[in-house]
Amino acid sequence: MTSDQPSPDHVLRLINGYWATGVVGAAAGHALFTHLENGAETAAELAERARIAPRGAQTLLDGLVSVGLVELREGRYHNTPEASLYLVDGKATCLSGFARLKLKHMGGLAALPDVVRAGGPVRDATTEVAENPHWEEIVPAIAAQSVPAARIAAEVLGLADAGAVSILDVGGGSGIYSAIWLAANPRARATQLDWEPINAIARRLLAERGLADRFTTVPGDFHTTDFGVDRYDIALYSHIAHQEAPEDNIAVLSRLREALRPGGSVVICDYVVDDDRGGPALPLIFAAEMLLKSKRGGTWRRSDYHDWLVKAGFTTVSFHSAPPATLVIAR
Ligand SMILES: C[S@@+](CC[C@H](N)C(=O)[O-])C[C@H]1O[C@@H](n2cnc3c(N)ncnc32)[C@H](O)[C@@H]1O
Repeated sequence: MTSDQPSPDHVLRLINGYWATGVVGAAAGHALFTHLENGAETAAELAERARIAPRGAQTLLDGLVSVGLVELREGRYHNTPEASLYLVDGKATCLSGFARLKLKHMGGLAALPDVVRAGGPVRDATTEVAENPHWEEIVPAIAAQSVPAARIAAEVLGLADAGAVSILDVGGGSGIYSAIWLAANPRARATQLDWEPINAIARRLLAERGLADRFTTVPGDFHTTDFGVDRYDIALYSHIAHQEAPEDNIAVLSRLREALRPGGSVVICDYVVDDDRGGPALPLIFAAEMLLKSKRGGTWRRSDYHDWLVKAGFTTVSFHSAPPATLVIAR
């Protein structure tokens, strides 16, 4: 290798990317970030608190320093600000459940070469299966990712001062949007439409937060369950559009337009890519997840969302950054 050649370091890190998934998932599984936050700062202290082998603790710490989630200062280990915010158990923004889940999903990627050849799932598609138990693991694990987006959307909508509004959350999952929005506006009411086992998870969250009396659930498939007419002020469609084909998104958005009162808003949250498909990075690579797990889903462009919303009867469309997702709000 000559000195003007690029180093293979980046390519080797990508080829071995599963090491990062493994180290972060295992560290989250043993609450290492939480123990670090609570003052355990050496491999021996962490091994004792997490009840893991000292050799295992040292290996995880080396890996976490390598991926930039833990810093070593004067022989003692500390969470980076990112790890402290996103990987310490009990914080509203904590993604450690998601890290544990992704470690379990890793084996499924071995099918990607076949999936790419076939142009879709080679085993059962996940998103099309009614009441798929897959969602029961996913929705609590992804709830924290919606916290910042739900707060940003509440601000854009002026929700706190919107009075006695009525909200419909299609495929609401954990119920995290309803929990945040009902807490922000004590006169708002929310209805979630999802599969019944998932609605049960959401009802538990809303009850834990003392909001159950303003939250109702409807069980069923959102493709066929009636949304009603002129019934809601806000309709939410968060992290659903990517599992659907364009014509199915237009059909659901058209029915949501009818379900909204005049002047009502639809809020879409999703991984939206630029029109030239040049970025952003995380939404672009998320397309692989949809190729593996859905028959016709994908990561759609801003122009796709705009076109669908106009076809569905909305006249004003705006885009708002909620990294790594985008909020699309239409009236
Ligand atoms: C990726 S999760 C999104 C959850 C939530 N909206 C959020 O942003 O955190 C997808 C949700 O849609 C629900 N879902 C998927 N297909 C559905 C269908 N055909 N009918 C009803 N719910 C569905 C799943 O049960 C799951 O709760």
